[in-house]
Amino acid sequence: MTLARLKVKGLRNLHPLDLAPGPGLNVVLGENASGKSSLLEAIHLLSNGKSFRTHQLTQVVQREADGMLLSAEIFSEASGTAVLGMEYDPARGRLRMKAAGRPVQKLSEMAPYLPVVTLHQESHRVFTQGPEFRRSFLDWGVFHVEPLFLPAWQRYRRALRQRNTLLQKSLPGPEVWDRELVEHGTLIDAHRRHYLERFVPIFMDLLPLLRIDAAIRLEYRPGWAADGGLAGQLGRSLEGDRRLGYTRVGPHRADIDFMVQGSPVLERLSRGQMKVLVYALYLAQVCTLMEITGRRALIMMDDLAAELDGRHIDRLIEKIGLLGFQSIITSSDPAFRRHVASLPHRMFHVEHGVFQEVI
Ligand SMILES: Nc1ncnc2c1ncn2[C@@H]1O[C@H](COP(=O)(O)OP(=O)(O)OP(=O)(O)O)[C@@H](O)[C@H]1O
Ligand SMILES: [Mg+2]
Repeated sequence: MTLARLKVKGLRNLHPLDLAPGPGLNVVLGENASGKSSLLEAIHLLSNGKSFRTHQLTQVVQREADGMLLSAEIFSEASGTAVLGMEYDPARGRLRMKAAGRPVQKLSEMAPYLPVVTLHQESHRVFTQGPEFRRSFLDWGVFHVEPLFLPAWQRYRRALRQRNTLLQKSLPGPEVWDRELVEHGTLIDAHRRHYLERFVPIFMDLLPLLRIDAAIRLEYRPGWAADGGLAGQLGRSLEGDRRLGYTRVGPHRADIDFMVQGSPVLERLSRGQMKVLVYALYLAQVCTLMEITGRRALIMMDDLAAELDGRHIDRLIEKIGLLGFQSIITSSDPAFRRHVASLPHRMFHVEHGVFQEVI
């Protein structure tokens, strides 16, 4: 699928924008604070329903604007053109969304139209920060390839909330929710394992391309100990859960350990190596999606030259082109052009929130 056209009004410093990216490589050049990340933020919002820079949608709305309006035309070979729309009114805190002419209530209904991965300067937090970042990385992939994952997750979360409320208030009967937690939790775990079986070999194959010669291993931890299934673990942890007021075992506690020669990558790899590894992870993610579903995600890379060195940039761009992905890469360095000079691409320049195609 391809982002064929994007319209933006009232987002950060962007002037009303109507942009038609090419189906392959797109480069956005502009000085600091010109609006490069804001463009990627607009696209990321339409796809993921949230910004990669803030949890507060009001921050994204242009100062003194009444609201924010985003729309995108998405083209896919299979189903032609679909229009996505998002309108946010900060005064009322109201978010309205539309997909293919129908109002949609949930962000999860928007996401399948345009899978987008965004790499930016915080992306390495998948290694440096808490397990929620690794879970959300994993679940992005599982969500996009397995339609039964989301309903299982929604029902699991509902049961978990109920159980935790009873635990917090020291009310009787939190264990009545265990049956549902086990039913949906086991399914979530199975979908995650199944996804990882496809993902890991693809990821391993990409490592040499990005000159990562360390022996990286991924160890998936489901969120409960291997001995005795989830049912037994929930039963055994009930007393402790009562004392702490929340459920300590289940797929909501899953994690992935990234190891190199028996140690966490965080302790072994240089910061630069870790950044390269993050690019390999996300590239493997979109390749897995393509292999399983035949759909191509849009890859966005913010300020790529600040993240990777020249040789890695060249290899990455070449690979993305060979695989036929649409990509948008930003840079504040005019010399970035040399990385794309010999490849077909579209180039845009942004200044004070105004975009112009460079012909
Ligand atoms: N809510 C807002 N309303 C208006 N302007 C905003 C808002 N939030 C941020 N800005 C401004 O938007 C401008 C563009 O920011 P953006 O992060 O997109 O720049 P950039 O081109 O990515 O810069 P850099 O190269 O430094 O990363 C900045 O001047 C910023 O202060
Ligand atoms: Mg930026």
